[in-house]
Amino acid sequence: MTDNGIDADLELTVELSAKERRDVAGPPNGAVDPAVLGIKVRELVWADVTQVAAIESKLFGASAWTMGMLTEELRGTGRWYIGAHPIDDGGHTPLVGYGGLWFDGQDAHIMTIGVHPKHQGRGIGQTLMNQLVIHARARGACKMLLEVAVNNPAAIAMYTRAGFEKIGLRKRYYQPEDVDAYTMQLVLKDGAPPVGTLP
Ligand SMILES: CC(C)(COP(=O)(O)OP(=O)(O)OC[C@H]1O[C@@H](n2cnc3c(N)ncnc32)[C@H](O)[C@@H]1OP(=O)(O)O)[C@@H](O)C(=O)NCCC(=O)NCCS
Repeated sequence: MTDNGIDADLELTVELSAKERRDVAGPPNGAVDPAVLGIKVRELVWADVTQVAAIESKLFGASAWTMGMLTEELRGTGRWYIGAHPIDDGGHTPLVGYGGLWFDGQDAHIMTIGVHPKHQGRGIGQTLMNQLVIHARARGACKMLLEVAVNNPAAIAMYTRAGFEKIGLRKRYYQPEDVDAYTMQLVLKDGAPPVGTLP
């Protein structure tokens, strides 16, 4: 995101090209054309932060990122955040889902992904995931990494469907909930060093 709002160059096309579909590659991952879902995916702008915070609150309650935290996160180095919007709203409101990553120069870390409860189960989460994977590949990331709560079967299923594998367990990762997290990985480049796989 640029400081002054949307970066037009980064606005995503509604329809993935055949090449982009190939670039997502790997196991069948539910690649969905955003237009088929009636949504448009574009980079988040500052004006979206209020809506992201509202959805965060619905999804994560007391553990939700606040507007301040979100603003700091979006300003962070190597961050890339996107939002999904109904296609007929001009691409600005209302936000129905969002996701973001941090590219550290080698790997891309999924920082968050969320879909408004009223819009879950329509393929929006998977579509956001696919766009994050496309972006990580374009940046040259060797692999994608994420943490997910062990008691979050929907997210684990979504990541697994996108080709991620469990490679570790981080005890008591989520506080104050005191919940363990799986670390999951999607290798993007052949030859990337294996980190190990959970039994
Ligand atoms: C996880 C989340 C982003 C999924 O978004 P979504 O738009 O509902 O997911 P999709 O409709 O794109 O589904 C994609 C895949 O995820 C899995 N999935 C989604 N919801 C599921 C559920 N309730 N139970 C089991 N699997 C589920 C399925 O594998 C699904 O593919 P399929 O429908 O072809 O079987 C959404 O449930 C959410 O916002 N949850 C709360 C926030 C959260 O936990 N974020 C992840 C933090 S690590």
